[in-house]
Amino acid sequence: MTWTRRHLTGIEPLSVEEIEQIFATTAAFKATLGRNVKKLPSLRGKTVVNLFLEPSTRTRLAFEMAAKRLGADVITLDCEASSTTKGETLRDTARNIEALNADMIVLRHSAAGSAGYLARFLGIPVVNAGDGAHEHPTQALLDCFTLRERFGSLAGRRVVILGDILFSRVARSNIWALTKLRARVTLVGPSTLVPEEFKALGVEVSHDLRSALADAEAVMLLRIQHERQNSSHFPSLGEYTSMFGLNKTRASWLAPDAVIMHPGPINRGVEIDSELADSSRSVILEQVTNGIAVRMAALYLCSGGSPDHLPAAS
Ligand code: CP
Repeated sequence: MTWTRRHLTGIEPLSVEEIEQIFATTAAFKATLGRNVKKLPSLRGKTVVNLFLEPSTRTRLAFEMAAKRLGADVITLDCEASSTTKGETLRDTARNIEALNADMIVLRHSAAGSAGYLARFLGIPVVNAGDGAHEHPTQALLDCFTLRERFGSLAGRRVVILGDILFSRVARSNIWALTKLRARVTLVGPSTLVPEEFKALGVEVSHDLRSALADAEAVMLLRIQHERQNSSHFPSLGEYTSMFGLNKTRASWLAPDAVIMHPGPINRGVEIDSELADSSRSVILEQVTNGIAVRMAALYLCSGGSPDHLPAAS
């Protein structure tokens, strides 16, 4: 099977075979990075526009590095610098970027479905870098790639996602990815942020941290996404931390070789204690590093590159 998609708007529509193709391509690109090859020619002569209408550090920089390592020219437009602040619509903004002969758009936007919306009418590939509380596909891909490097197959592995699930695009994309890869997923947090409805996605839902963490092989922490909440879902941050923050005692409930993950940005002392974020069990910075190769794979495949004929380094 060859990759046929022009857009990467989410994990939900992907087949397991497509996810495996992304991982194989990621592994090949990661090997080239490991050999200190700075540039591949795959996107030489192409222009990638990063349209980031929400703040970002990791995703934006990783997409920029990925595109540059594939030889593309990269232009990043952020919210403050774009004419969306003057009332221009997303549709008009994107059509103007296409009219300027960009070859690909990477979009981060606060509206769920915005990447899929652009993909419906643009003639160039669209890669979703996070759309509201809907999906953050490259984050889930890099998370699962990192887990696979550690554990091999994820089939039957117990993965806990802890925190603000309701407002998290990272959680949604990871639920799709992990369940497609046959991991056993438990969501845990306050009932206001982890509603029972998520069970319909094939995961367990728990509000009891100790039983959820017991013998889990990976825990993915999520920060509280205040920017998407317009009402209070728990009495105070301090009370949230006392009930659901990961500390040394609670981490001891995990399986002995369990890994601690976080998509970033971390709120130290809220969802995770600093000593755990910086501990040997943390793979948080491995996740960040893998984000470059995963995004290289996403850009390469969506631009028409074949997973079977990766370019030679130059
Ligand atoms: N994980 C993530 O999306 O981080 P940024 O918001 O910094 O891109």
